[in-house]
Amino acid sequence: MMDDIDRIMEVMEAAFEPRWGEAWNRRQISSSLALPHTDYTLVGEKGGTPEEGKPAAGFALIKIAPGEEELLLIAVRPEHRGRGLGKRLLDIFANQARKRGAERIFLEMRANNPARALYESHGFEQIGTRKNYYSMDNGDKIDAITFARTL
Ligand SMILES: CC(C)(COP(=O)(O)OP(=O)(O)OC[C@H]1O[C@@H](n2cnc3c(N)ncnc32)[C@H](O)[C@@H]1OP(=O)(O)O)[C@@H](O)C(=O)NCCC(=O)NCCS
Repeated sequence: MMDDIDRIMEVMEAAFEPRWGEAWNRRQISSSLALPHTDYTLVGEKGGTPEEGKPAAGFALIKIAPGEEELLLIAVRPEHRGRGLGKRLLDIFANQARKRGAERIFLEMRANNPARALYESHGFEQIGTRKNYYSMDNGDKIDAITFARTL
C-alpha cells in the first residue's frame, strides 16, 4: 500500500520542473517529517482527503513554530491545476495555523514563480527578498521572495 511519503513524492516528481531546483528528495521529506514541528496535508482531486490507497492530487508541507508557521512546500499535479486545489491547501493551512494560535504565516518562493498570483490573492504580502537563494540546475541563481500573511 502507498504510504503518505510515496504520495508526496509522486506529486513532487510530477509538479516541480527540475530546472528550478525547488523540489525536495525523499530523504529531505522523511527527515523533515520525523521532526515534531513539521506536518503535511494531502488533497485528492476533489479537494477532500484522498481515498485510502489512492494517489494524492496535491500536498502542502508545513513548519509549525509558536505564533508563526511556515509553508515549506505546496504542489498540485499539473493535470489537476487551476481548479482551486492550491487555494484549498492554503485555506487548510491558514485554518489549522489559526487554531494552533498562530498570528502570522510565512512562505518563500523563487522570484519568477507564477504561484505569486495565488499567494497574493490569498492575502500574502511580500516582506523580503533573499538574493541568489535558489540554485538552478544549470548553476544560475534566483532570488527568493518571502511573503507573510496576518491571520
Ligand atoms: C502553485 C500550485 C500549487 C497552484 O496549484 P493550483 O491547484 O493550480 O492552484 P489554484 O487552482 O488554487 O489557483 C490557480 C492560480 O495559481 C496561479 N498560478 C500558480 N502557478 C501557475 C502557473 N504555473 N501558471 C499559471 N498560473 C499559476 C494563478 O494565479 C492561478 O489562477 P487562475 O487559475 O485563475 O489562472 C501549482 O501551480 C504547482 O504545483 N506549481 C508547481 C510547484 C510550485 O511551484 N509550488 C510553489 C512553490 S513551493
